[in-house]
Amino acid sequence: MKIRVITAFPEMIKPYFSESMFKKACEQDLIDFSVWDLRDFTRDKHRQIDDAQYGGGAGMVLKPEPFFRAYDQILEQSRTEEPNIILPTPQGKKLNHDYSVELSQLDEINFFCGHYKGIDERVREYLVTHEISIGDYVLTGGELPALVIIDSLIRHIPQVLHDYQSAQGDSFTDHLLEGPVYTRPREYRGHKVPDILLSGHHKNIEEWREKKRINRTKERREELLKNKSENHLAED
Ligand code: ADE
Repeated sequence: MKIRVITAFPEMIKPYFSESMFKKACEQDLIDFSVWDLRDFTRDKHRQIDDAQYGGGAGMVLKPEPFFRAYDQILEQSRTEEPNIILPTPQGKKLNHDYSVELSQLDEINFFCGHYKGIDERVREYLVTHEISIGDYVLTGGELPALVIIDSLIRHIPQVLHDYQSAQGDSFTDHLLEGPVYTRPREYRGHKVPDILLSGHHKNIEEWREKKRINRTKERREELLKNKSENHLAED
């Protein structure tokens, strides 16, 4: 998967790709990542990327030209004539597990990160293909949301996670939350690991885990269960 992030703050993005899962995915060529500085697409001496709003009002707006020029460069490098351009915005479609699985199937994605008062509407109207929100709150810019979206979707590329199988029990797979997990010691400050996990009986352990996931989902996020049939509900 090819991922480009176009931002006025490239240093906010780069460190993330030099650590952990991102770093490995890049080293193994599972993702081809690049970050482009929006100011490199300006043509004036001051490398100005924003300007005051037409009609008046507080806050600067990101100018259209740098984004349109970045888009031209994407087109030159892209295998498709209609590249996927993601605009992280609180006005977008809310990211969830299913949507991130869908995004992980794309060959190429480009993020346009907004800041300040926003991006000139012509960028949104003529270039952006996906507007995505990571939740009903407002952040300073699109950089953190872009990283959140990238993190959530590259976990669905099987080779990216060291232990991909363990991700299959993560929250939201199957529309269920994750269940409890334990490690050594067997007993700590009087708190014991449930006997069943020490029993060595794999089938019973699997049943217990499934039941815990269902019960936890029922207690905390009952609405997720509407996608699961009622007769899967377990007793406590
Ligand atoms: N930019 C600012 N806030 C955001 C949010 N909640 N989701 C996506 N992009 C954003």
